[in-house]
Amino acid sequence: MVAFLLFLGTAAHADEGMWLPLFLQQLNEKQMRSMGMKITAADIYNINKGSLKDAIVSFGGFCTGEVISDKGLVLTNHHCGFDAVQNHSTLERNYIRDGFWAKNKGEEIPNPGLFVTFIVRIEDVSKTALAGVTPAMTEQERSAAIDKNIAGLKTTVKREAYQDFFVRSFFEGNQYFLFVTETYKDVRLVGAPPSAIGNFGKDTDNWMWPRHTGDFSMFRIYAGKDNKPADFSNENVPYVPKKSLSISLGGMKEGDFTMVFGFPGRTTQYLPAAAVDQIMQVNDPAKIAIRDKALGVIDGFMRKDEKIKIQYAAKYASISNAWKKWQGEVLGLTSTKAVDKKKVYEAEFQKRVNANPAWKEQYGSLLGDLETSYAEINKYGLARDYFNETISRIEAFALGAQLNNLAGIKQKNGDKAFKDAVPKTIDRLADLYKEYSPEVDKQLFTVLMEKFTKDQPAEFLAPELVALAKSNDYNFSKIADEFYTGNDLLNAGAKVLANLQANPDLVLMANDLNKANQLFISLNAHYSATVTRKLSGLQAKINQLQRTYMKAQMEVMKERKFYPDANSTLRVTYGNVKGYQARDAVKYDFYSYLDGVMEKYKPGDYEFDVPEKLRTLYKNKDYGPYGKNGKMPVCFIAMNHTTGGNSGSPALDASGNLVGLNFDRVWEGTMSDINYDPSICRNIMVDIRYVLFIIDKYAGAGHLVQEMKLVNKGKNP
Ligand code: ARG
Ligand code: GLU
Repeated sequence: MVAFLLFLGTAAHADEGMWLPLFLQQLNEKQMRSMGMKITAADIYNINKGSLKDAIVSFGGFCTGEVISDKGLVLTNHHCGFDAVQNHSTLERNYIRDGFWAKNKGEEIPNPGLFVTFIVRIEDVSKTALAGVTPAMTEQERSAAIDKNIAGLKTTVKREAYQDFFVRSFFEGNQYFLFVTETYKDVRLVGAPPSAIGNFGKDTDNWMWPRHTGDFSMFRIYAGKDNKPADFSNENVPYVPKKSLSISLGGMKEGDFTMVFGFPGRTTQYLPAAAVDQIMQVNDPAKIAIRDKALGVIDGFMRKDEKIKIQYAAKYASISNAWKKWQGEVLGLTSTKAVDKKKVYEAEFQKRVNANPAWKEQYGSLLGDLETSYAEINKYGLARDYFNETISRIEAFALGAQLNNLAGIKQKNGDKAFKDAVPKTIDRLADLYKEYSPEVDKQLFTVLMEKFTKDQPAEFLAPELVALAKSNDYNFSKIADEFYTGNDLLNAGAKVLANLQANPDLVLMANDLNKANQLFISLNAHYSATVTRKLSGLQAKINQLQRTYMKAQMEVMKERKFYPDANSTLRVTYGNVKGYQARDAVKYDFYSYLDGVMEKYKPGDYEFDVPEKLRTLYKNKDYGPYGKNGKMPVCFIAMNHTTGGNSGSPALDASGNLVGLNFDRVWEGTMSDINYDPSICRNIMVDIRYVLFIIDKYAGAGHLVQEMKLVNKGKNP
């Protein structure tokens, strides 16, 4: 009985799940309406006429954005637009520090490489994708067959010439869906608040509630004169969307229905207990410890050097973001006893399987096999984490890699191809140099290579590395001195770029003598020989088992409502606005206000400074139509099941109006990627009224608000 109750605890809850928009009517509409939704599934997703989905974009492939005016204005998070803001910032025009607002369309700044993608329609293509696939196939044969089937769709999928499509696997490869897309490549920066607002509280507040961040930035989509996607051109015009979101000034009460519509990146909800245990005990702790070291180095330099602060701001934020999340994840999995719950669930699964001869035959050994495979992959997964977390952090390796690629082209494709490739290499190196400081990198090399070498078993250490370490008494600072001193590639970027232009062969010859690069090549070779092959073999085995386990669960655990893991495709998640009990005696409210910004205010602080103008607006309670009862709402939380990639996603009210921007989750519930728990999993949104207040009253960019459609104005004061 106890076991069964515990098992129920792991079945899907009302608020759990990231649902495919095309099945909302079938699977979710009834429940959504019972939770307060006033619109229909067809208002959300409809391929025959404009629906909410036509206002949602994948922003650059890593975040979500939404269209909020009929002139193509797009809202996303500050941290999603941050790369653009950073690219246009210099010490003299410091948009990171001061914010940026285009006063008219002429001042909007193009961002080469940035794009937004709309989803035109979604189709189940499982039959086509899996045609001819048999259980006897190896994983390799299987994926080759599927790739071929999908490639065949190129000629048959109905779409316009300017549209594209992609196919993704769902439910661990049991189903396949097709997404017809429209991608706009002329996306210009319209505005961003200063970091002191857009990233208020920085890393200390990140993944935490209560939160007081105005995490938004604004862009505009430009199209050709025919409103179709077009490459950047001064002739392009603001895009006229099929649908733009109305914005509600009404605010949210506890219990109100909300949904979040966007592109969640990756979750793993259907892992067995053994895999979850490994994440908690092995992988997360190792990655956290390596990042501890890297962050310590970068932070030290950023605090004392304004130039390094600009150069490394984005890198730091992204390293620290996952680092902190993993810590929350381990805590949350521990506090909710995720592994025990999974074990109870698995016992129930096994019991039912054993009771049915056909199931027993097919699925009887599944959980045991999974457990064995996860045990086998353990050390290789750990070696992968060490390798990735170390190698990708050291820029000297990335710089060398660019030249290695170039040398490879020369060797394989001859002189002409080589000469043609040089400009691209110059561009890529220039990009790397922009965010590179030799002092920082040298220190990173010292600290990370030392940890890499000391922590790992001999089998994963390249002989060249061992020899190097031994001959220097494991003094990595000495090794770094030797590697970095007098090395042009690592110290004199401008010179290298000029030389590449003038005599690329000479630069390649110099790189052959580059000791950091020589080490990099040995590390790569050893990793391929000892880890890559083993890992991909074991991973293929695990993928196959997980796919069968997924199918089996759907057959055996019939009462459970299954949703596919996030895979960067368009999803809807819904829940109610609600506070939570964080731990014994600690209960959190669901709204935060500008008063909280002022409580956290630390003059001159790196994370908690507050711009003077915002302090004045606060003092005068000068909130315009955006405040409520003399207070300025800032953020709120709800039970929506979100993950990375949902950043910038619209939070919509029961009528489908925009009420906020999703940007984070609460500390206690960051394990929702692995095991959602309704008692402590909450997503964090910035209130749209705060966004408008900052644009209008703080930045004086009210002309942008004029473009938007505001509703429920009367309900606010
Ligand atoms: N934790 C949020 C997400 O995963 C926000 C990250 C940006 N903010 C920051 N302080 N690094 O993207
Ligand atoms: N901040 C995350 C992002 O960049 C969203 C928050 C989350 O992971 O829940 O997508």
